[in-house]
Amino acid sequence: MLGAGFDTLALRRADLVDRLRVFGLDHPDVQQLKRERIDAAGATPASLPGFVPVDFEVSNLADGLAASAFDPRRRALFSWLNTLPYPTPDGVASTLDSLLELAAPGVGARRPRRPRGKSRQSMSARVW
Ligand SMILES: C[S@@+](CC[C@H](N)C(=O)[O-])C[C@H]1O[C@@H](n2cnc3c(N)ncnc32)[C@H](O)[C@@H]1O
Repeated sequence: MLGAGFDTLALRRADLVDRLRVFGLDHPDVQQLKRERIDAAGATPASLPGFVPVDFEVSNLADGLAASAFDPRRRALFSWLNTLPYPTPDGVASTLDSLLELAAPGVGARRPRRPRGKSRQSMSARVW
């Protein structure tokens, strides 16, 4: 999950533990806060996500995953929800380029463009 924020999928879904490994990519400061909140909750999570610190402005997504337990030989689904308004267009584009390094042959991505006169919220990116 790119820009995972405080997503709780891995924490909640005990039924998926033996089938799904969740990796959350986010800014290191946000990940630190998330770890603190999980600890403070005092609950026993179904599993912990893999914490992959990545700043989309300066870090390479593929390098971040390579330094984690992520196995690029296994099937993976990437999601990047509710995050595009925050990084710069260059940060989004470089992250999509990096994602394509990991993707199967034939997968492509359309770089986000900001239509003339539109706000950053109207940017869209598409991977297929
Ligand atoms: C609105 S939250 C979305 C969280 C989650 N995807 C969801 O849909 O609930 C946006 C997330 O993007 C992350 N983010 C924004 N800019 C980032 C950057 N440059 N590098 C890494 N993460 C970034 C924030 O830390 C935050 O967790």
